[in-house]
Amino acid sequence: MRDKITVIGSLNYDIVLKIPRLPECGETLPADEAAFSAGGKGANQAVQASKLGVPVYMVGCVGRDAHGDYLLEAAQKYGVNIEHVRRCEEPTGMGLINAMEDGSVFACIVRGANFAVTKEDIDRAEELLKETYLVILQMEIPQEINEYAIEKAKKLGCKILLNAAPAAEIPLDYLKMCDIIVVNEVEASFYLKADVKNEEEARKGIVSLAKAYGTDLVITLGKAGAVVSEGGSVTFLPSHQVEAIETTGAGDSFIGGIGYALLNGQSLTNACEFATCCSAVTVCRLGAQDSMPFLDEVKR
Ligand SMILES: Nc1ncnc2c1ncn2[C@@H]1O[C@H](COP(=O)(O)OP(=O)(O)O)[C@@H](O)[C@H]1O
Ligand SMILES: [Mg+2]
Repeated sequence: MRDKITVIGSLNYDIVLKIPRLPECGETLPADEAAFSAGGKGANQAVQASKLGVPVYMVGCVGRDAHGDYLLEAAQKYGVNIEHVRRCEEPTGMGLINAMEDGSVFACIVRGANFAVTKEDIDRAEELLKETYLVILQMEIPQEINEYAIEKAKKLGCKILLNAAPAAEIPLDYLKMCDIIVVNEVEASFYLKADVKNEEEARKGIVSLAKAYGTDLVITLGKAGAVVSEGGSVTFLPSHQVEAIETTGAGDSFIGGIGYALLNGQSLTNACEFATCCSAVTVCRLGAQDSMPFLDEVKR
C-alpha cells in the first residue's frame, strides 16, 4: 500500500537580513531587521504537502547543533516524519539572504549537513520507499546522491518528481527515469539554453524538453502562472490575482501542492491547478513554511 510522500533533500536554517542596499567592499552596513526561519527546498516542500494532510517523510541530514534542533522541531510541528533525518558532524545547512526594499534578493547558501547525505542514508530508507507513492527531490544535496536516489526509487516502483533547482547539469539517463520535472523560468532557461520569460516561450520550451526527456514537465512563471506538459498535451495555468507580500516559498508551496493532489489521484494538470491555489495563499503571507496553507485555507 503506497500512501506516502518521501522528500529526499535539504533542510536549511535561513537568515533573512532586510537591508537598504548592498554594502560596499570593506563597509559594515547596519541591517534594518533580521529574521530567522526554517527553510531548504526539501523541508519546505515536505512541510507544504504535510500541512495539506498527507503522510510525508523527510530524508536528509542536519547537524548536531541548535540550528538542527530548530529545523527538526519546525518540520515536526507541521507533521513531517523526521525518523530518516540523520544528525551528522557537519553543521546544519544555512541560507543567508540579503533582501532589499525593492524586492531584489542576494543570497548565499552554506551546504553543510545537506552535503553529508550518503548512499547509506538512501539505503536506510528502502523500506520507506517501498511504501512511497511519490518521491520528491531537488538539487540541494550532492548530485551523485540524487542520482542514486532516483535509480533506487525507480527500481522500487515509486513515482518520481524532480524539482531541478537550483539548475545544474544532470545526465539525461537520470532525467529520463523521472516522471515529472518541475522548474521555474530561470531554471528552464538554463536547461533549454534559451530565454523563458513568458507563456509563449514556456510553451515552446516545454515541448522540446518533453521530447528530450520523455517525462511530464511543469515550468512555473512566477505571477504569470505555469505551463504543464502532461502526456504531450500542454496547458497554461494563469496564477491567481492576489496582493503578493513575499514570494519566497512560492515554488516550494507549488510542489508540495502537486504532491498532495497526485497522492489523491488527480492528474498532473489538475494537481497544478490545485498547486496554483496553494502558492497564491503562500505569497500573500510572510515567511516560507509558516506562510504555506493548510487544506481548509486553500479551499477557502
Ligand atoms: N505574485 C504572485 N501572485 C500569484 N501567484 C504567484 C505569484 N508568484 C508566484 N505565484 C504562483 O507560484 C507558482 C510558483 O512561483 P515561481 O516564482 O515560478 O516559483 P519559484 O519560487 O520556484 O521561483 C507560480 O506558477 C504561480 O502559480
Ligand atoms: Mg520565482
